Amino acid sequence: MICASQALADSGRGVRFEVEYFGGPAPAFAIRHRGRVHAYLNRCSHVAMELDWQEGVFFDSEGRDLLCSTHGATYSASSGHCIGGPCNGTPLVKVLVEERDGKVYFKGFEDD
Ligand code: FES
Repeated sequence: MICASQALADSGRGVRFEVEYFGGPAPAFAIRHRGRVHAYLNRCSHVAMELDWQEGVFFDSEGRDLLCSTHGATYSASSGHCIGGPCNGTPLVKVLVEERDGKVYFKGFEDD
């Protein structure tokens, strides 16, 4: 389990968690956007930095897009696609999650 559903407010703070990715631990995060939970590796596609300089702060000030705190790469909250800044068209790595019975669970990766 990643967290309780109520830990994720819409466009609010994200929850950080760890996954195994290519045989090693990798930081990831979950956020809620327009009611749905989405999760990504916490790794900017510009430089392999974590996005949140302040822990759990992934959204821009409008609560619409995800913003890398290092150089301002901007990603769609619902797809992880790069929509501006130095990510240059490269998306975040999507993590599959499922919300069930008031809890959010890790389900793997899209290409598993
Ligand atoms: S490391 Fe994210 S924009 Fe450069």
